[in-house]
Amino acid sequence: MPVSLVVLAAGMGSRMNSELPKVLHPLGGAPLLAHALRAGAVLDPERVVVVTGHGAEAVAKAARAKDPEVIIAHQAEQNGTAHAVAQAREALAGFDGDAIVLYGDTPFVRPETLEAMRDARTKNAVVVLGFEAADPGRYGRLVMQGESLEKIVEFKDASEDERAITLCNSGVICADATVLFQLIDAVDSENAAGEFYLTDIIAIARQLDKSVGVVRCDEAETLGINTRAELAAAENALQVRMRAEALENGVTLLAPETIHFALDTVIGRDAVVGPNVVFGPGVTVESEATIRAFCHLEGCHVSRGGQIGPFARLRPGAELAEDVHIGNFVEIKNAVLDEGAKVNHLSYIGDADIGERTNVGAGTITCNYDGVFKHRTTIGKRAFIGSDTMLVAPVTIGDDAMTGSGSVITKDVPDGALAIERTAQDIKPGFALRMMTRLRALKTKQNEGR
Ligand code: UD1
Ligand code: CA
Repeated sequence: MPVSLVVLAAGMGSRMNSELPKVLHPLGGAPLLAHALRAGAVLDPERVVVVTGHGAEAVAKAARAKDPEVIIAHQAEQNGTAHAVAQAREALAGFDGDAIVLYGDTPFVRPETLEAMRDARTKNAVVVLGFEAADPGRYGRLVMQGESLEKIVEFKDASEDERAITLCNSGVICADATVLFQLIDAVDSENAAGEFYLTDIIAIARQLDKSVGVVRCDEAETLGINTRAELAAAENALQVRMRAEALENGVTLLAPETIHFALDTVIGRDAVVGPNVVFGPGVTVESEATIRAFCHLEGCHVSRGGQIGPFARLRPGAELAEDVHIGNFVEIKNAVLDEGAKVNHLSYIGDADIGERTNVGAGTITCNYDGVFKHRTTIGKRAFIGSDTMLVAPVTIGDDAMTGSGSVITKDVPDGALAIERTAQDIKPGFALRMMTRLRALKTKQNEGR
């Protein structure tokens, strides 16, 4: 049975107190919306519909970045969750299968839970994802009769007895798509909020004698983000989970609680990560690489045996082959370093290619930007770049070539050549001593004159 997703993402999220639409706030380096799409993607959906409203253009862009095939349905006015799902009707025209309703602000729903809902759907017309709430607060309450769900009452509309129920509605629903839209057609807005509640489809289904099942999940899975405090708590929960996964996968984390991962971080077995390392989006670290304390990595690839840091920064496009060493206070951006290349101290390498076993001396800088354009620096194999070399790009240094320390290199250097660009050293015997003696005497005279 094919499945399609309807992801609600139209709400303003006013409690975030932000210009940015709520579902675009990042969690683990990826917009909230991407988390729901990622969980749903595991079901291999035939169609994915994202319902946009506030910040529609930006939300649509983020959705397409995650999945170019996503269909956008616009909800101009937010008249409730049933009204939101109704906006997906056209996008799902001709689709024959199950529809699952997910939420752009609910990032932790596990793919396994969605699979369980699909299983339960084989026995029920509609399946609701519920959870036992520690503090049921303002959640909708699931009113059960035995194993059958009779209706969902929203907190605002619930009686005292109903408010005492602790089994709550996560909002996630799975139903046959055609049936779902039929049920939604019968929903009205006669309630405390004056909204079209998606939750009303349960009582309507029961009136039509359709069976409704409940799949239960852990409360942590249904955590929705409404405030910055909740976002921060969710980030923490995600980090705790990712650290545990890394340890489980055979990665050594010397101080796990200080490591910050992105949702897509990949680290190989027997890699070692020191304290206070931050992984931004798009990082792959292979087995047996070492990332020492206080490194910041983003959009980069560290191969087997690589040694990074402490205090190194790898930016997008840093592609490091096996056994590359990057030392303290070194920044690498959009640069390919071949096997065994070393940049160990205080350097900036941007828009560059560096050949195997080349050594880049302390304080070397690729001057890649002329104020308008970026230019490339190419360095061959086994080259030796002297300390404090400025490589004014575009420039090429040959295999086995050398540059003298302190040189500003503006012309290509052939294979095996040495390039030096600095004035010849001048020696003035006794000058320093004579000068200091004179200055000290002057100071003494001035002090006596006061
Ligand atoms: C909803 C459920 C409630 C459940 C709770 C779980 C209904 C009526 N109630 O309540 O039973 O316990 O979620 O968190 O469904 N949205 C739109 N367009 C709209 C309205 C909402 O896209 O017109 C989106 C919102 O952006 C949000 C989500 O749907 O992400 C839920 O809407 P919200 O108004 O927050 O519903 P709750 O009151 O939380
Ligand atoms: Ca909510």
